[in-house]
Amino acid sequence: MRKPAWWEQGIIYEIYARSFQDSNGDGIGDLKGITSRLEYLRWLGITALWITPIYPSPMKDFGYDVANYHDVDPVFGTLADFDNLIEQAQGRGLRVILDFVPNHTSDQHPWFRESRSSRSNPKRDWYIWRNAKPDGGPPNNWISNFGGSGWEWDKATGQYYYHAFLKEQPDLNWRNPEVRAAMHNVLRFWLDRGIDGFRVDVLWHLMKDPQFRDNPPNPAYDPTQPEIDKYLQIHSADHPDTHYVVQEIRGVLDTYKDRVLIGEIYLPIERLVAYYGREAGEAHLPFNFQLLQTPWNSRRVGAVIREYDGIIPEQHWPNWVLGNHDKPRIAARIGHPQARVAAMLLLTLRGTPTLYYGDEIGIAERAIAKEFVRDPWERNEPGLGLGRDPQRTPMQWDGSPNAGFTTGIPWLPLSPDCSTCNVERLSNDPDSILSLYRRLIFWRQGSAALMEGKYRQIEFSGGGDLLCYERRAGSDRAIVLLNFGAAHDAAEAPEFAGLKIAVATHAGREGEIVDAKVKLQPNEGLILAPV
Ligand code: GLC
Repeated sequence: MRKPAWWEQGIIYEIYARSFQDSNGDGIGDLKGITSRLEYLRWLGITALWITPIYPSPMKDFGYDVANYHDVDPVFGTLADFDNLIEQAQGRGLRVILDFVPNHTSDQHPWFRESRSSRSNPKRDWYIWRNAKPDGGPPNNWISNFGGSGWEWDKATGQYYYHAFLKEQPDLNWRNPEVRAAMHNVLRFWLDRGIDGFRVDVLWHLMKDPQFRDNPPNPAYDPTQPEIDKYLQIHSADHPDTHYVVQEIRGVLDTYKDRVLIGEIYLPIERLVAYYGREAGEAHLPFNFQLLQTPWNSRRVGAVIREYDGIIPEQHWPNWVLGNHDKPRIAARIGHPQARVAAMLLLTLRGTPTLYYGDEIGIAERAIAKEFVRDPWERNEPGLGLGRDPQRTPMQWDGSPNAGFTTGIPWLPLSPDCSTCNVERLSNDPDSILSLYRRLIFWRQGSAALMEGKYRQIEFSGGGDLLCYERRAGSDRAIVLLNFGAAHDAAEAPEFAGLKIAVATHAGREGEIVDAKVKLQPNEGLILAPV
């Protein structure tokens, strides 16, 4: 058996850079702030952090509009601060993963300024320029992910350019070899500084249909959905040629030792797992967002786990994501008691877990009043509940003003629960969700069954909304029993008898030896292990 890579054994923690810790009172999180909180991350037990974009940016999409790939935005600090963060993190055994945003740049990036300066500029073909239709309209029906046409008219040069996101985020033309070479140099720049890998933004978007055909209408579309869902994205994303450019990116990483490539990919499971690569390696971990999207009940979640676990090719490694900066927080979506069950699920499944900052303390979301809205998606398509500000509010550290996040005015208001729901308070409470996360993380990291073992769903009698599975590596095993429902319940199977409750979501049960019939309180989860 091959030795597992660090990303197959680790736990990834996403830090939304603007919201983790401010060090200079400008109300926006920064690199020095993150460095000052590394001890917390070590205490929590996570092994790798992924930091959202820190590059110079006009911040139209809060850093996902990069104006220079080779530097740090002053709001986050300097390259020296970055080097110090890497050194301090790695010195504590923590890996650092950066966000790589290859699909588009900012419209303020010098490449785009050149490209739009004239049709004959050498960088013209670095972006996607097309003529208008005979009626003057855009070249096809592709919609921007943030609403409206994906095409923007450039009066000066009389052509449209394509932007899958904001018009201030023009898409690069990845079919141009010079673009690919320049982006590979970006990867090397950061890899040479010692980072441990990349999370690649919208990886499945890189290549588009070379004929720019219209996308077909989506027959299931209804107007409560974002406008992008009007059409099926079959020509504008997940083009088969994307796999080739991902292989090239992976090739660059593979010239370094032990660096991970993670892909942000929202696709159905079958197409998602194609990004592990067939002929050649692609992403080590194509992010699996199933837990963010599946209705919260044992039947649906169980089915998704079976489907995903069953489809991962032998030589590849699965992963599970419970939250990110684009989706509603888990505690807001399913509720607080359920969020504890979700924590146990995430940390006992087969595959690398990724957790989102603040979910470990169960931050709930606050409604963001109109005057505080910052997210461009909410501004472009208001009223559909698409805004991402609620899940980006500052981290809650202690009971001081602004929960210790900043001494200034926070760029987004804090969640109103911050005086009670904060790290300082919850770390002193053995029954808090934070303490539960920590026990789960330490239990997982010490258990071969949970870290490497096979997954098997267990049949049992009884139970309304229960899920039960075993993880086993050789003779090491653990059984996980989760009550997704809000009712008292019980499950019975001969193999439960004599096992000990190793970790429980509810107080007072750890250490208990169970019978074949195990009673569960509403929204209770248990890890059972041999005595
Ligand atoms: C990804 C990011 C998201 C961003 C978009 C455009 O989905 O996670 O935050 O808005 O790409 O870069």
